[in-house]
Amino acid sequence: MDTVRVGLIGAGRIGQVHARSVASHPDTQLVSIADVFLDGAQALAREHGVEATANPDELFDSNTIDALIIASPTATHVDLIEQAVDAGIPALCEKPIDLDIARVDAIREKVAASSTPIAIGFNRRFDPHFANLHRRVQSGDVGSLEQLVIISRDPAPAPLDYLAVSGGILRDQTIHDFDMARFFVGNIVSVTAQGFNQFSEEIKGIGDYDAVTVTLRGENEESVTIINSRHAAYGFDQRLEAFGNQGMLRVENVTDTLVRHFNSSGVEALEPYQNFFLQRYMDSYRVELGEFVTKIRTGDSTSPTFEDGRAALVVANAATQSAQTGATVSISS
Ligand SMILES: NC(=O)c1ccc[n+]([C@@H]2O[C@H](COP(=O)([O-])OP(=O)(O)OC[C@H]3O[C@@H](n4cnc5c(N)ncnc54)[C@H](O)[C@@H]3O)[C@@H](O)[C@H]2O)c1
Repeated sequence: MDTVRVGLIGAGRIGQVHARSVASHPDTQLVSIADVFLDGAQALAREHGVEATANPDELFDSNTIDALIIASPTATHVDLIEQAVDAGIPALCEKPIDLDIARVDAIREKVAASSTPIAIGFNRRFDPHFANLHRRVQSGDVGSLEQLVIISRDPAPAPLDYLAVSGGILRDQTIHDFDMARFFVGNIVSVTAQGFNQFSEEIKGIGDYDAVTVTLRGENEESVTIINSRHAAYGFDQRLEAFGNQGMLRVENVTDTLVRHFNSSGVEALEPYQNFFLQRYMDSYRVELGEFVTKIRTGDSTSPTFEDGRAALVVANAATQSAQTGATVSISS
């Protein structure tokens, strides 16, 4: 395969990011964009000089594209993955696969039986800082991994109409952290979660939490602590710490520069943290796309897999049950 011809479904926030990654990759060419909101598809298509359509079905032709990126809303993912498998077109699908495990399971066997690569967009695995820490844990820099701490706070809540259909904070926000936990620990055997209503009456009103703390138990007695909030006064708070019997590795928040300001009201002041995922994780989306393309060209298996996407949802569902009942919930595959 020479240049990989890529079709994109969904021209919204994350679709625009993927379009830029495809355009800037030396081995890929964006060829068409589908969005049911035709104006959105056309605006992005004009920017990249490609075709636009309001009908995603038009993209499923392996004579015109070699790979597909699915960046439309979550409720569309299962059907589009199934269409990609039927057409034999490798697909990188945004997370989560779906909010309903029954819908995920309805296509599980078909995806497993197919040789068409399906990757799920858990981009944080590809963040250069987290990926470096992960490599160093794998190579034994902290010895045997005992404790992982993931802090993940959004700068401010998403709009209420989005939150109302998001599946709840544990399936919407924490799902990234569940995938990160699985990246390090592999098999999670139980989850204990607590949900809090600390600052938003609106979020409480839709029956969701605005903050959670979660403890996961790994099959080798690892503990993973996840702390989430839907707000943080100082910006997007994304930290990771791996502790083992021979030391610790830690990733702090990222600022645009490391220039520090000293004056009469403070010392060592950095610029604010990168504000949200489109800044903080921009590199990760580029690396994610690059790895996906490399692997479909070489025939190696892509990751995170459909099974990784399913497993993160299983943990999120168990965590939701734990938060609602107060009980620790066991996880089976
Ligand atoms: N990995 C990440 O960091 C990350 C970040 C944001 C969003 N996401 C995921 O990406 C997906 C899209 O989120 P977003 O924030 O870009 O949403 P968005 O609302 O900004 O964009 C979605 C786009 O899809 C279009 N659309 C709706 N139904 C469609 C259909 N049936 N076929 C084709 N297009 C359709 C909409 O018109 C819209 O332009 C969600 O699943 C979300 O969870 C992932």
